[in-house]
Amino acid sequence: MNGFDNKLFDGRTVVVTGAGRGIGAAVARAFLQAGAHVVAHAGRSEEHVERDLTRGLDAAALERLSVVTGDLAAPGAGLALAGRITGLAPRIDVLVNNAGTMVGRVLLGETTPEHYDRVLDLNIRSTVEVTQGLLPALKTAESGAAIVNTVSISARTGGSPGSSLYSASKAFVSTWTRSLARELAPDRIRVNAVSPGTIMTDFHRRYSSPEKLAATATGIPLQRLGTAEDCAPAYLFLASEHLSGYVTGQVLEINGGQFMG
Ligand SMILES: NC(=O)c1ccc[n+]([C@@H]2O[C@H](COP(=O)([O-])OP(=O)(O)OC[C@H]3O[C@@H](n4cnc5c(N)ncnc54)[C@H](OP(=O)(O)O)[C@@H]3O)[C@@H](O)[C@H]2O)c1
Repeated sequence: MNGFDNKLFDGRTVVVTGAGRGIGAAVARAFLQAGAHVVAHAGRSEEHVERDLTRGLDAAALERLSVVTGDLAAPGAGLALAGRITGLAPRIDVLVNNAGTMVGRVLLGETTPEHYDRVLDLNIRSTVEVTQGLLPALKTAESGAAIVNTVSISARTGGSPGSSLYSASKAFVSTWTRSLARELAPDRIRVNAVSPGTIMTDFHRRYSSPEKLAATATGIPLQRLGTAEDCAPAYLFLASEHLSGYVTGQVLEINGGQFMG
């Protein structure tokens, strides 16, 4: 029993990037449990797939899963990945652009051109390229397609020191989400975003100390940090024509009340 209607995405093909672990893995698992065929871009390798992506999935769900890998932090990498995905799935109903990370906490004075390129190539350029490359396949979806982008609470708050390029890159994707929602509405493609707050994944195990996380948790109205599983239902909601067919250009904040606005 997984709590998801196992027919909600029956016969649908869903692509999730950054799905080897963390939020993307929980999202891909939830789509599989809701009946979808899922092409999961696991990240740069399959290292975390067994620990996270395929954890607890039954044989029927595993049969509907294809896994691809590829580093997305370079010009052209997103288009190359999209080409490989359309080879596996010529028609796509849902695209979740989720691959991303801070790359490192780097203060402005220490920012190098290489760091700048890596943060923006991964969080912005690859999102644009994957979407552009998969657009023809999304246009062929029978009952309208959906794109759901992962942004961040830091797009609104500015994040904390050392995250300026990352936070601004997520703000880019939020605005891009709204622009694209208008542009693609005539093609019956809805475009929305999920904006996670502080979610306990490898992301924060890497970039935030336990003391910083404990202090953050006490300031959250719901009095705890979030989990990847807290985020997944928002993606299914925004991806489902049945549940959110009149919703486009929106950013849904999933943060326990940490930021309201
Ligand atoms: N956790 C949070 O509190 C939080 C808050 C707001 C927004 N977000 C956003 O949520 C999304 C998922 O983050 P998460 O918390 O689940 O972090 P995570 O556990 O670190 O997962 C990040 C995913 O993105 C992939 N990725 C990172 N760098 C990549 C690269 N260069 N090329 C290809 N794939 C790459 C990772 O693959 P590898 O395994 O190869 O690294 C992994 O699959 C990200 O866009 C993140 O910015 C997270």
